[in-house]
Amino acid sequence: MAIDYQELIPNNVNLAGDRSLQRALEHWQPHFLDWWRQLGPSDFLSADVYLRTATSVDAKGWATYGTVKMPEYRWGIFLADAVPDRRIGFGDEFGKPAWQQVPGEHRSTLRRLIVTQGDTEPASVEQLRRLGETCPSLYDLRNLFQVNVEEGRHLWAMVYLLQKYFGRDGREEADELLRRRSGDADSPRMLGAFNEATPDWLSFFMFTYFTDRDGKMQLHSLAQSGFDPLSRTCRFMLTEEAHHMFVGETGISRVVQRTCEAMRAAGISDPTDIAKVRALGVIDLPTIQKKLNLHYTLSLDLFGSEVSTNAANAFNAGIKGRYHETQIKDDHRLQNDTYPVLKLVDGQIKRVDEPALTALNMRLRDDYTQDCVKGLLRWNKIISLAGYDFKLTLPNVAFHRAIGEFKDIHATPDGVLIDDATWNRRRHEWLPSTADGDFIASLMTPVTGTGEFAPWISPPKVGIDNKPGDFEYVKIET
Ligand SMILES: [Fe+2]
Ligand SMILES: [Fe+2]
Repeated sequence: MAIDYQELIPNNVNLAGDRSLQRALEHWQPHFLDWWRQLGPSDFLSADVYLRTATSVDAKGWATYGTVKMPEYRWGIFLADAVPDRRIGFGDEFGKPAWQQVPGEHRSTLRRLIVTQGDTEPASVEQLRRLGETCPSLYDLRNLFQVNVEEGRHLWAMVYLLQKYFGRDGREEADELLRRRSGDADSPRMLGAFNEATPDWLSFFMFTYFTDRDGKMQLHSLAQSGFDPLSRTCRFMLTEEAHHMFVGETGISRVVQRTCEAMRAAGISDPTDIAKVRALGVIDLPTIQKKLNLHYTLSLDLFGSEVSTNAANAFNAGIKGRYHETQIKDDHRLQNDTYPVLKLVDGQIKRVDEPALTALNMRLRDDYTQDCVKGLLRWNKIISLAGYDFKLTLPNVAFHRAIGEFKDIHATPDGVLIDDATWNRRRHEWLPSTADGDFIASLMTPVTGTGEFAPWISPPKVGIDNKPGDFEYVKIET
């Protein structure tokens, strides 16, 4: 179905055919816009930004580019096309028709999952709101804003489900989504990683690479849901989400590239000679590793406890499936299966077989880790091509955890258990220190000339929408 842009709220869900829902959403819309003006990107409200907007959900129309002022972006409700005769692909109701309405017995589970997903979307806009002030280029500024407006749209996606299918409770939850604030002491966002500061552009790239990728995994499992409107919503969100992770992966690639080029030009042979590298005005590889350690582990926490009856119940009920569920060759019920889970046994990290059903969080987290590795291979290739013997690595899952099996112990990135005193003494060898943050902050001076880039990051290989290198992605003065 084509997207109707004549309506106040663009949509492909025939909103005009459901007057009470339309009224409820039109009532929520000004609150959303108030929130955007207050907590969306600081400044730049009148800038003309080269953004993509969906005009249809198919390959031809989902990324239509044009110049928009952000507060005038057409946030709307877009569902992927329905799959005819779609069936539930897993759990106790395997093979039965997917639900077009919320089954009463699954109402609270579904609501919780939708609210939790929904909460992350505005949270990330809040976390990133000051970054525009220190952008390394107009290209990067535009990418930041593209991510921002789409996270705003993902909030719309979840609010649509809440308001359409969850009655008064859903309307209240929709209001709460605009009330909580990332990092707020009294009313924080629901998940830890979404209350963390994202103070600089390296954090932004790490965030979009690692934390948006958690979002990808969650959306993939929800796209399997027996609740068909949720599945269709998530499927379209995933199309947009891919760009966010592209921004992260290429952003880190460009930082690594620039650092390697600068080290070579200066004849530096030891990439761990931090003082020498920093003197060149680029970010040294050990500090990039520390940032990676931080964002990867914060993102691991988003998967919840390794062993979880909630996860088992949601699977049995047909609500939340596995990553690529339909492509997995098994019975999709998992009643008698096991899955190896990393656990702390007698003071050692060991793999223990657990019932596959309760180990679903662990499995999704493993899928996530495998997905993360791809970027590391690319980054390490840049480093080795530059002739340096240095590898970025993912830390052990026992390192720096606040949730799950390893939350009460300390471990090194190599997975060696250590005591509190050792941890306190050494933690800044592995995680960014205040001094590291200050150094990165010192590089964050805005570059807004057309075709210009900050000296700590390489230009991209290709422009957005194949635009040339000197394209003015954001017209700041209007
Ligand atoms: Fe999102
Ligand atoms: Fe995202």
